[in-house]
Amino acid sequence: MTDRKTILAGAGVNTRLSHTGNNPADYHGFVNPPVVRASTVLFPDAKTMETRAQKYIYGTRGTPTTDALCEAIDALEGSAGTILVPSGLAAVTVPFLAFLSAGDHALIVDSVYFPTRHFCTTMLTRLGVTVEYYDPMIGAGIESLIRANTKLVHTEAPGSNTFEMQDIAAIAAAAHRHGCVVTMDNTWATPLYFKPLDHGVDISIHAATKYPSGHSDILMGTVSANATHWAQLKEANLTLGICGSPDDSYQILRGLRTMGLRLERHQESTLNLARWLAERDDVARVLHPALPSFPGHDLWKRDFCGSSGIFSIVLKVESEDRFKAKAHAFLNALSLFGLGYSWGGYESLAVHVSLSDRTISKAPTEGPVLRLQIGLEDVADLRKDIEAGLSAAAAV
Ligand SMILES: Cc1ncc(COP(=O)(O)O)c(C=O)c1O
Repeated sequence: MTDRKTILAGAGVNTRLSHTGNNPADYHGFVNPPVVRASTVLFPDAKTMETRAQKYIYGTRGTPTTDALCEAIDALEGSAGTILVPSGLAAVTVPFLAFLSAGDHALIVDSVYFPTRHFCTTMLTRLGVTVEYYDPMIGAGIESLIRANTKLVHTEAPGSNTFEMQDIAAIAAAAHRHGCVVTMDNTWATPLYFKPLDHGVDISIHAATKYPSGHSDILMGTVSANATHWAQLKEANLTLGICGSPDDSYQILRGLRTMGLRLERHQESTLNLARWLAERDDVARVLHPALPSFPGHDLWKRDFCGSSGIFSIVLKVESEDRFKAKAHAFLNALSLFGLGYSWGGYESLAVHVSLSDRTISKAPTEGPVLRLQIGLEDVADLRKDIEAGLSAAAAV
């Protein structure tokens, strides 16, 4: 009989999502691993305590439940090791603290998730790191920005809110020629639709809060490293004492079981709505990398094997002083779409995006940018809701 590990290694993604991260034989046949909560772990004798010669030492260093989730994420990412942290934002800040020191220079993509930028411009700068933002479309041209003290290149593709694509392989190759660590916030695609480590990234970052959770009720981040960078990432994690809880890990592991199916549905509904919106006269542009008209679509097609459930539209509005009124009219007319941050859950959400932080990838000038997170509702109902929003925007 072929062993389970070999079968899973060659299996389809939904099979792997159903069977990785737990082995029922380890827990008396129960299908799911138990939630093991811990601070203290006991040692059988003084010698074992002194030498720490047992698998579990203390709660911050992992329990069987957090290990089960890390094992599942490693299998999806192809990583040497994964740490769990209490939010997606911490999944960015912890590796930055792990790999950057005073006097270093870091290159951060301009279309980055805003709280990542805030961390860079406040705390990282205070700690003596010089931060520079670069054009998401720079590709191999990033080499001209690399200085003798550049230590880290951070990527995020597609970009937050405006969905710019990046040539990750070209950026990673240039960065590695100069000994820089390459990090990527891959939350949009999940490892199902893009595997950063296969494209030269060293550290893959996810807000597991989004698709792995899937139900808008858990905050968690995962950071996965290749073999070269794993020891330093793990050491920083232990030094900072920033760890994910066993209860949240259990819920994320539970979410992973259905993530493939949910993503298929998010993708299908989102593309349906994005294509419909792209045909409308009241919409100036649809910002979605899977649409052939989107700049960067070729990169998406080359590297990604799917698209998820969040994109933006740019309303067509004649003058800038009407942007806010039109955007608010759109949002206030929605009944099914909630007005709220975050994404990746089962329910649809909408937000009027602010891009005032951008220095290179500036905000579109044709109208306000509205970000839509498409949930698992029936697409015909969502279409009616968006139509109501567009009519209300046209009426003010
Ligand atoms: C691209 C991206 N990365 C990271 C995060 C942060 O995740 P969390 O909300 O868990 O801190 C978000 C949240 O919206 C995000 O959009």
